[in-house]
Amino acid sequence: MQTINGKEVSKKIREELQNEIDQLKEKGITPGLSVIIVGDNPASKTYVKSKDKACKQLGMKSEVHSLDGDVSEEELLNLIDKLNNDETIHGILVQLPLPNHIDEKKVIEKISPNKDVDGFHPINAGKLLVGEDTFIPCTPHGIIKLMESENIDIEGKRAVILGRSNIVGKPISLLLLEKNATVTICHSKTENLKEITKEADILIAAIGKANFVKSDMVKDGAIVIDVGINRVDGKLVGDVDFDSVNKLNGFITPVPGGVGPMTITMLIYNTVIAARRLERGK
Ligand code: GUN
Repeated sequence: MQTINGKEVSKKIREELQNEIDQLKEKGITPGLSVIIVGDNPASKTYVKSKDKACKQLGMKSEVHSLDGDVSEEELLNLIDKLNNDETIHGILVQLPLPNHIDEKKVIEKISPNKDVDGFHPINAGKLLVGEDTFIPCTPHGIIKLMESENIDIEGKRAVILGRSNIVGKPISLLLLEKNATVTICHSKTENLKEITKEADILIAAIGKANFVKSDMVKDGAIVIDVGINRVDGKLVGDVDFDSVNKLNGFITPVPGGVGPMTITMLIYNTVIAARRLERGK
């Protein structure tokens, strides 16, 4: 397989974003992202740190609000309210998952749809569904950019998505459908999974099971996008058994260094869009 280098693609897009950020700053607008993290989930902490670092590297305003794991839902909602009204903040992201005592839906719906750089608010998710301009969720958007970087033609192709989450599975299905792929969504209750995945020209693995996709599930020549980030014996591995699938022809994204860097890049992209909208509205 040919490896799609997410770090390289990411670097190129960040260079373009750097120009946009510099231009906005000349007009007196510094794109600002506020990330809220609740509790001390180690993976979430790592992601949040990377997001903060990437924003700062590009000269954006970036702030992280770390709240205790036992913070009340009300306190979290109040903080979001404050950030909704903070003119220096263009994007708000609440890192998921949240502790069980907090209602994730309520939290997502509290974020102003104009600052919802994750694209998770039902208004933005609805816009994506009907094909209106909106914040495209970062990981699915990154996947499309990775495929575009290799000039992969999506139209008419059979795309199979493993996973139906609101963060990846559902939105990537819509984006691929918009690009005229024939889309099948598989999940934990799908029967005869292998028969379906073997038909895929484009296979997206987003189920959170380490090394789940083996070479006998993949068609020779397929494009395999691995969204999984799993820790096995202290090592990061994807949802795709890389060594086995890599023996086939086609394209594959590695873990780490594939989809991961793109997610952060597209988050910056959305924050820049949010800031630019403000500049236009002035
Ligand atoms: N947790 C895992 N992925 C994401 C993401 O893209 N955004 C947020 N907010 N939380 C996540």
